Amino acid sequence: MTYFRSSLETDTAARSISTRAPAAGELAPELDEIDAGGRRISLKDFRGSPIVLVFSSAHWDPAATEHIEQYNRLIARLPGLAGAHLLRVEHDGAWRALAFADTELSIPVIADGGAELAKRYGVREGPAVFVIDAAGVVRWRHVAGERFVLPDDIALATSTHEMEHASGTWTRREFVATAMAASFAIAFLPFTRRADMQAQTLAGAPPAPADTIPVRLNVNGRDLSLQLEPRVTLLDALRDYAGMPGTKKGCDHGQCGACTVHVDGRRVLSCLTFAVMQQGKPITTIEGLAQSAGASGDALHPMQEAFLTHDGFQCGYCTPGQIMSASAMVKEPWGSEDGDVREAMSGNICRCGAYTNIVAAIQEVRRGTLSTSNRKSNGGDR
Ligand code: FES
Ligand code: FES
Repeated sequence: MTYFRSSLETDTAARSISTRAPAAGELAPELDEIDAGGRRISLKDFRGSPIVLVFSSAHWDPAATEHIEQYNRLIARLPGLAGAHLLRVEHDGAWRALAFADTELSIPVIADGGAELAKRYGVREGPAVFVIDAAGVVRWRHVAGERFVLPDDIALATSTHEMEHASGTWTRREFVATAMAASFAIAFLPFTRRADMQAQTLAGAPPAPADTIPVRLNVNGRDLSLQLEPRVTLLDALRDYAGMPGTKKGCDHGQCGACTVHVDGRRVLSCLTFAVMQQGKPITTIEGLAQSAGASGDALHPMQEAFLTHDGFQCGYCTPGQIMSASAMVKEPWGSEDGDVREAMSGNICRCGAYTNIVAAIQEVRRGTLSTSNRKSNGGDR
């Protein structure tokens, strides 16, 4: 990850008027906009806060209440942003402010900048979105006609640790704020696209192609070629596009564990990761767990057998996630006590309360004392 040291004190000559859209890492062109009260606004007015700058060729209102939940669903999926909850989008002169319930953050959104501003940012036609960090540097952009690229070194970075040790150039607060701004920037795009498509349809023009990209996933040893929007989670890609409903959707917010799969052999909540981020990595779901352990035919994985033997389920809805989590957990360095198992499995919720039997099943697999006919016929992936 690269971090740029910059400053809003930089000579404004460096922010020359550009005919091309500034790329990530470059200084953002000056705003130089007049707000509703007749004041001239510039980047310095937003010192200490990232800005989301949106150009949309059709009418679009980021403050519409139906969008708020959409933004919050997106925030909930982004690592490092737990606890942030958007309350409202407030009007403040020429810009809107994203007001959060549980942080001091307030992120300005400048929607539908004027023609002069669009020219300065190299935008010929909308939609276009720029995320400008607190130091006035473009961190991420998407301009109509460009291939959509997730801002994964901002919004999807999991390691704030890295940020804190990046020579002190960016504080954790700046990082979190910029990540949030980027998440909102992604959330805005579908709305601007939809507005554009509606406008074109009304004008008799053919609608723009859907905003999908080719995504290749390796699931249970098979290569799958899917056509997905970049914001599709791995969970939805598996269930709704790859036809594998064994992985369950419980909360869709990273809180229940029902959606657990293995990526690169480690347990991952598939509702919290985008499918595009998992390309090139082996993914195992409950459908392929036994085969991943060397089983053939209808033979089960030892953990599946143990859940059967110990009645580790009632309704069964949480069970695929429990088994995927447990089969990864037994390879992790946990202590040998029941309490260690409960701690290790605390991210997997069972509404039926089958916990005692689940712990017994896992402990039996850990001790290697499982004894059933199926047990002999598979490879016993421990
Ligand atoms: Fe993923 Fe609940 S559905 S954790
Ligand atoms: Fe019903 Fe766990 S068995 S939720």
